[in-house]
Amino acid sequence: MKNKNNKSIDLDKFIYQSLYNKKDGYYMSKNPFGKKGDFITSANISIFFSEMLSIWILSFWENLNKPNKINIIDLGGGNGDLSKNILATLNKFPNFKNIYKLYIHEKSPLLKKKQKILIRDKNVSWVSDLRKIQKAPSLFIANEFFDALPVKQFLKNDKIWKERKVYLSKSKNWNFIDKETDINLLDKKIGFKISKDQNFLEISKVGIEYLNLISKIIKNNDGGVLIIDYGYYDKKMRNTLRGFANHKIVNILKYYKKCDITYSLSFNFLKKIAMKNNLKVAGLTTQGDFLKNMGILERAEIVSKNLSFTEKANIFYRLNKLISKNFMGEVFKVMLLTNNKSKFRIGF
Ligand SMILES: C[S@@+](CC[C@H](N)C(=O)[O-])C[C@H]1O[C@@H](n2cnc3c(N)ncnc32)[C@H](O)[C@@H]1O
Repeated sequence: MKNKNNKSIDLDKFIYQSLYNKKDGYYMSKNPFGKKGDFITSANISIFFSEMLSIWILSFWENLNKPNKINIIDLGGGNGDLSKNILATLNKFPNFKNIYKLYIHEKSPLLKKKQKILIRDKNVSWVSDLRKIQKAPSLFIANEFFDALPVKQFLKNDKIWKERKVYLSKSKNWNFIDKETDINLLDKKIGFKISKDQNFLEISKVGIEYLNLISKIIKNNDGGVLIIDYGYYDKKMRNTLRGFANHKIVNILKYYKKCDITYSLSFNFLKKIAMKNNLKVAGLTTQGDFLKNMGILERAEIVSKNLSFTEKANIFYRLNKLISKNFMGEVFKVMLLTNNKSKFRIGF
């Protein structure tokens, strides 16, 4: 990114360039998934994760009284594992097989290409503008999608709010710099007083835009959005921004364009946005509890019944990663947002 006259750059713009610069942005130039990559998602760890989501999708559809059209939208397709495995399960249900459309929403051309090689199915298409999906009840699946969107940060010190920015020093190192800002403008933009009782704000403008658009689609067509992500319940927001490279946390300034940049979602903030948009929080729990409620342990028992000891061990090793408090079971939360009339609660 060119930075003339040593001017500071908004933090979210810096993150955007680091991840999505057309030429050499992190997500544009490499496949970061898997053991050899920088991180691994639940969908990459075990097929049971996608299977539980598929069963959840089918239950949601049944709860809507089995409409003859339904959209499933995979937000941020990653290496394609999630959609591929969801399709494999959904296509086993003859009543469902011919009535759903699965849309993959992916920004990175490189990952899109990989997804297209992996997934060939008449029910699947790629959509870059969510307004283009067919008019039908729509279920959005956001597994580690919102945490991949660029954020802004604001800090309060002695009653003065500052926005965190980034600048390139003469020695060509990126640094943070905090600049005074009028926080009322942010409150106004968001539509409620987000800065009230906070000393720190971490907010994704793009994330809010996505939630606003998704809320509109759900209100007009029915459906819901299932958000599965790193996050916390506390009312106070905190600084959670971090880089990931080679499965380790790294400094995002030093690893410009060389690391994934992520943050933990404030589920309290998401709830407020949902309520502003007239959606309700139909469920909120940890990933571990959600998957156990969906029957992941029973599924693993059935599948592993006639397998060798080593195969069984592998299945339960992976399962443990998904549901254990020491791994992804607790740091990942699951939130379902629906319109106010929905009574669907499965998984929570
Ligand atoms: C951490 S990965 C999650 C992948 C996948 N959902 C999974 O569970 O394995 C984030 C994905 O979101 C994509 N992404 C990030 N921002 C996006 C945007 N604005 N529009 C579409 N895709 C985006 C990235 O390219 C990447 O595929």
